[in-house]
Amino acid sequence: MIIVSPSLLSANFLNLEKDIEMFNKSNAQWLHYDVMDGNFVPNISFGPQILEQVCKITDKFIDVHIMVANPLKVVDYFDKARVNMLTFHYEAVKDLEELNAVIDKIHAKGIKAAVSIKPNTPVEVLEPVLCKLDMVLVMSVEPGFGGQKFMTEMLSKCDWLHNWRIENNLNYLIQIDGGINYENGKKAVEHHCDSLVAGSYCFNNPVSFDYAVDSLLSLKKENK
Ligand code: DX5
Ligand code: ZN
Repeated sequence: MIIVSPSLLSANFLNLEKDIEMFNKSNAQWLHYDVMDGNFVPNISFGPQILEQVCKITDKFIDVHIMVANPLKVVDYFDKARVNMLTFHYEAVKDLEELNAVIDKIHAKGIKAAVSIKPNTPVEVLEPVLCKLDMVLVMSVEPGFGGQKFMTEMLSKCDWLHNWRIENNLNYLIQIDGGINYENGKKAVEHHCDSLVAGSYCFNNPVSFDYAVDSLLSLKKENK
């Protein structure tokens, strides 16, 4: 089963409650929450306080993607929110020691841990930590903004991650984020992605939010 994670970044910020109710009623399993600090990425979105309010009105799985320059510190800001998965960026840590420290800190809080890589980062850099990750997030656009064009060439990273998990008997999930619509989602699933993040395709869909979510859910995976 494909896990669909609509990105709240494309919701109507003047009416978040209405959009979250629409998400609650849909078949989407996760809610993707993009945190941007205006430093690691050239945009500022929302942070832990708004997430605490969001968590009060949804029982679904909270999938937080922090695009921040200091993840070791920022993961502590989310202690009061009900986070299920916390994804930070490989490019935001200074060395392998810090990469391990952030993963361990997230796990110590009882939260699933994931690492994301930007388009210019080769996936192999994650080799030393793949055995302890719950998920890897492959960015298929430069992080920072919704509504960008999908970079097809990122799909080879998903193939590599899939082969690695088979060869090493691991079971981390593979998530892809950026420019996902039905066509690109189909390609991503063919390249072994388990979870699809979709912002503008879901929240700005000309047919409906439910139509977008269900179209992505229909891309069933035959095998892992
Ligand atoms: C981009 C964010 C994405 C964004 C995706 O930096 O990480 O989650 O919301 O938006 P779409 O699906 O519109 O590309
Ligand atoms: Zn994201």
